[in-house]
Amino acid sequence: MNKKEQGIYIICTENDMAKERIDKILSSQGFGSRKEVQTLIKRGFVVVDNTVVKKIGEKFDPESDIITVMGKPINFKKNIYIMMNKPAGIISASMDPKMKTVLDLLPKHLQRKGLFPAGRLDRNTEGLLIITNDGDFAHKMLSPKNKIYKKYEAIIDGTVTETQINQFENGITLQNGISYKPARLNIIESGPRSIVEVTICEGKFHQIKRMFIAVGMRVIYLKRIKIGSLCLDPCLKLGECKELSEFEINSIFRDCI
Ligand code: URA
Repeated sequence: MNKKEQGIYIICTENDMAKERIDKILSSQGFGSRKEVQTLIKRGFVVVDNTVVKKIGEKFDPESDIITVMGKPINFKKNIYIMMNKPAGIISASMDPKMKTVLDLLPKHLQRKGLFPAGRLDRNTEGLLIITNDGDFAHKMLSPKNKIYKKYEAIIDGTVTETQINQFENGITLQNGISYKPARLNIIESGPRSIVEVTICEGKFHQIKRMFIAVGMRVIYLKRIKIGSLCLDPCLKLGECKELSEFEINSIFRDCI
C-alpha cells in the first residue's frame, strides 16, 4: 500500500500533473494574481530548467520541471493546508456579499484559488480553523464516520457540576429530536461563571451552545483548541495563520481523546 492508500497525506503529490500554463502554476503557488505573475514573467524573473521563460502562456510540468522565481525554486505543492486562529466577528465561509470572511484574513503568500474553510465555526467562536483547497481531505476530516474529535474551551454562564458531566456523557437529545452523541466535559473552574473543556466527535450546527442550552446553561465564550491530535498553535494571535506541515496534517487523523 502506498502512503495515499493508507490515508497518509503527502504534500508533494504523485507525478500525475499535466502540463500547465506557467502563469497559472505561479498564481496557484501564491506568487500573486495572474496579472501579477505575468509581470514577473515579462521581467525575466521566471526561469524553468535554466532557461528564462519568455511566453506567458508557455506550459510546464510543475512536478518535474525546476521552476525558479528570482532565483528561488518554487517548491510546488498541489494542495495547501492552513491553520488559522479565527477571531470572533468573522464568518467561516469562502465568500459573502456583506461580511468579512476567514479568507479575507489570509496573508498574500497563502492566498490561492479554490480555498475554503474545512468545517465551520460560528461567527462569534474563536480558535482553530483549517483552510484548504483539498476537498478529499476536508471530507475525511468532517465525515462523522471518521469520528475526529474536536476540543473546545468554553466559559459558561452557570455552575457546571458532575450533573452536566453525566448529561454530556450520556448524549443529549433536544426537544425537536436532534440528538448529539456522548461528549466529554471537563471542568476547569466551577462557579457562577464556569470554565470548561468540551470534546465532541460531530460538528452539528451550534452544537455546543445547544447542548448547554439543553442542560439549562448558556455559552458566553467559545474557542476551538484541538482537532484530532492537532492543537491550536499558541504562537498564533487571533486572525493569524500558518501553513501546516505533513506531520501536523496527519496528526488530525491520529487518535486523540
Ligand atoms: N459549537 C458551537 O456551538 N459553535 C461552534 O462554533 C462550534 C461548535
